[in-house]
Amino acid sequence: MIETLPLEIELTSQSRIDGVDFENLGFGRVFSDHMLVAEYKNGEWVSAKVMPYGNLYMSPAMSVLHYGQSIFEGLKAQYMKDGRISVFRPWENHKRMLASAERMCMPAVPEDLFIGGIKQLIEIDKKWIPKQKGASLYIRPFMFASEEFLGVRPSQEYKFIIFTCPVGNYYSEPVRLKIETHYSRVAQGGIGCAKTAGNYAASLYGAVKVQKMGYHQALWTNSLTHEYIEEVGTMNIMFRIGNRVLTPELGDTILKGVTRDSVLTLAREWGYEVEERKVSVKEIAEALQNGMLDEAFGLGTAAVVAHVKVMHYDGKDYELPPLEKRTLANKIYDYLIQLRNGDIEDTHNWLLIL
Ligand code: COI
Repeated sequence: MIETLPLEIELTSQSRIDGVDFENLGFGRVFSDHMLVAEYKNGEWVSAKVMPYGNLYMSPAMSVLHYGQSIFEGLKAQYMKDGRISVFRPWENHKRMLASAERMCMPAVPEDLFIGGIKQLIEIDKKWIPKQKGASLYIRPFMFASEEFLGVRPSQEYKFIIFTCPVGNYYSEPVRLKIETHYSRVAQGGIGCAKTAGNYAASLYGAVKVQKMGYHQALWTNSLTHEYIEEVGTMNIMFRIGNRVLTPELGDTILKGVTRDSVLTLAREWGYEVEERKVSVKEIAEALQNGMLDEAFGLGTAAVVAHVKVMHYDGKDYELPPLEKRTLANKIYDYLIQLRNGDIEDTHNWLLIL
């Protein structure tokens, strides 16, 4: 399936699937039988191999371990009602990986390797796609600097890997968020828009602090003044006030979410007034205080649509309306599930069908 590179295939003789409890998958703990590993050297992708999922050999001087050149993607596949398999908007993930690679001084992964690799792996490991409601096969393509060298400059060697894992929901319940006005995830002019490991590392300290206070995640604000809402780190954020749908505009501090983009498209088509702009903490706090905030929800590949149950701001918890009143988030969730299942027509050409 990968036409530009010779692809070697080594299949496992011992599938691990019989030991998997598909009813209790959680997120990111169970890994399918195979992975694809491609290598970049001397300015080109030189090899690609599908092999049994397993540990990698690495030098302690490998560049990524010291200077963090590492980017990744996340996308999902599932069975459709007619037995075919749908993958949601993989071309968008590929484009975002190219943008992340450019920002992190890493080489471009050819579309043929990215999409062709996904197709190949799914074909080999399709029995790992869960059939349980709400579950799917999460696909994790990633690339890291693999040169054995300690000088600070872009690595000259990389590995691109794809593995897959059957997953359930990322959040098993509606989330409690704390609007964070002290710590920052990313800085203006930095790498917040790249899907790179460092952004997740930078979010951990603040996230652990809010988790100790009983929240699931921090809702990050701009690092300079903490006046504007940005994103959650594990997902983008959206608010509904009446017929208005508000979400922070993209820039160098916000990840360009594929689910975010899909939902904005749908919300516009469904007649909502979509406002993609700077969303101030003040206006959201006022809407919370006046009981005007009808819905807040996170959006991401892993999270899909995560209802926000509670938002904390300035020493106070605000409870949002009950889930049955979340008309937009519920409609989006149903739409995305039905689309991927083949229950409704793919009018936007969002699905890669295998
Ligand atoms: C995704 O939604 O795919 C992500 O990469 C987020 C991560 C927190 C799992």
